[in-house]
Amino acid sequence: MTTEAPLRSPRELFDLDGRRAVVTGASSGIGERLALVLARAGARVVMVARRAERLQEIRDRHPELAPRLLAEVADLAEPAAPAAVARRAVECLGGCDVLVGAAGMPGRGGVRQFDPPLFERVLHLNVSSQASLASALFEPLRASGVGRVIYVASIFGLAGEETGPLAPYVASKHALVGLMRSQAGEWAPHGISVNALAPAHFPTEMTAHLLEDPVIGPKLLRRYAMGRFGRLEELDTALLFLAAPATSFVTGVVLPVDGGWTCR
Ligand SMILES: NC(=O)c1ccc[n+]([C@@H]2O[C@H](COP(=O)([O-])OP(=O)(O)OC[C@H]3O[C@@H](n4cnc5c(N)ncnc54)[C@H](OP(=O)(O)O)[C@@H]3O)[C@@H](O)[C@H]2O)c1
Repeated sequence: MTTEAPLRSPRELFDLDGRRAVVTGASSGIGERLALVLARAGARVVMVARRAERLQEIRDRHPELAPRLLAEVADLAEPAAPAAVARRAVECLGGCDVLVGAAGMPGRGGVRQFDPPLFERVLHLNVSSQASLASALFEPLRASGVGRVIYVASIFGLAGEETGPLAPYVASKHALVGLMRSQAGEWAPHGISVNALAPAHFPTEMTAHLLEDPVIGPKLLRRYAMGRFGRLEELDTALLFLAAPATSFVTGVVLPVDGGWTCR
């Protein structure tokens, strides 16, 4: 005979009031959106990126959320940066419950024209710096009791690109998915879940020129079952699902938000 757990309203299920979050890549695009979504749900958020003026401009644009948005300027490609960011974020927030890793860079090119410095830069920022920051936040995430790590991977962490070689980027996002799976197994006994979002194409500084290109845009669209690219706000609920304390039995998963791109 099992006792029935109390039913919670959607508001209670997704409430992040008082949670402490670190979001990298928060100065634009997906990371900016995810930082704002967490703040709107009640979290205090340390937004990490290199461009101080962009972080300030986001706070100015959202005065109602500004008290919960803190800016941390850092170049995560610098070897010492992830540990320093983690230390300052924990000082500001008094701990950490959620880490969202959205900082990333593109990397075009094929393997025939193998470009070692480019591969290293892309893998370093898109994978190693993510692991390094997560590692530096392990103790506060463990102490939280509801620690959540959410990496922003990509559909290119699940499949290759068909409209042109993108080897460094595809390799990095597959590696990030691998990192997530390995870390999920390692950190589950400590009460920390580790998952990944896998967005398809969303218009951002990284992608807008491709999506709007009269040749490349339609080629990319062909694989979309829904026949269109994503809208940034369509990532909101996927993020809240993975960040919510109520999502207590989900770890090691990749959640595509892709308009049916991966079903093709
Ligand atoms: N847009 C898409 O279609 C799409 C699809 C799937 C996955 N993604 C992934 O989503 C993430 C965000 O990309 P986006 O599309 O939103 O592009 P974006 O607008 O160009 O955002 C990239 C973010 O990463 C930050 N960043 C880059 N290098 C950094 C560094 N060395 N140190 C600290 N921060 C750094 C940038 O901030 P600063 O320049 O201020 O440092 C910026 O906030 C990336 O991981 C990307 O791979 C994007």
